Amino acid sequence: MSIEPRDFRDTVGCFATGITIITTVEPDGSPVGLTANSFTSLSLDPPMVLFCLDYKVASFDAFQAGAHFAVNILSTGQQDLSNRFAKSGPEKWDGVAFDTWDTGSPILPGCVASMECKVSTINEGGDHVIIVGEVVRMERAGGDVMPLLYFRGGYASLSD
Ligand SMILES: Cc1cc2nc3c(=O)[nH]c(=O)nc-3n(C[C@H](O)[C@H](O)[C@H](O)COP(=O)(O)O)c2cc1C
Repeated sequence: MSIEPRDFRDTVGCFATGITIITTVEPDGSPVGLTANSFTSLSLDPPMVLFCLDYKVASFDAFQAGAHFAVNILSTGQQDLSNRFAKSGPEKWDGVAFDTWDTGSPILPGCVASMECKVSTINEGGDHVIIVGEVVRMERAGGDVMPLLYFRGGYASLSD
């Protein structure tokens, strides 16, 4: 059976996910980030997570060269931020407030949770790489902060 790319995207898009903005810094300290829903947890002990990064994204070199990254799990009110970081260009950071913890990777306020990670391995996976990191610091919001979801190519939210 031949697999058509559009058909494949529509099929894997049936898997509902959260949405993250994954960040790092350039060697000169400028912030780098992109919207990603390929994030998943990997290991409990040690605590490890991973995400998949397209070779074609503008931020590829920064993530490949960087020793650290941060994962910001978006909340329901952050759809505009998700759209903004799903485009290329340094202007995506214009007017975006962020904190930094120990490694300098941007931590976005208002998220459901954020994690700071040390890069463990980078493995090839077709037209993406799989970046695995060990979590070194994390914080999460209270239970009233709900996640932004992605399903069948569109945003969604939890409902009872
Ligand atoms: C919901 C959603 C999820 C995405 N997930 C990923 C992902 O997991 N990995 C990836 O490389 N790109 C992903 N993208 C695409 C990037 O966000 C997009 O290519 C972005 O422009 C990359 O920024 P950059 O070119 O500045 O690096 C996703 C986009 C959307 C809208």
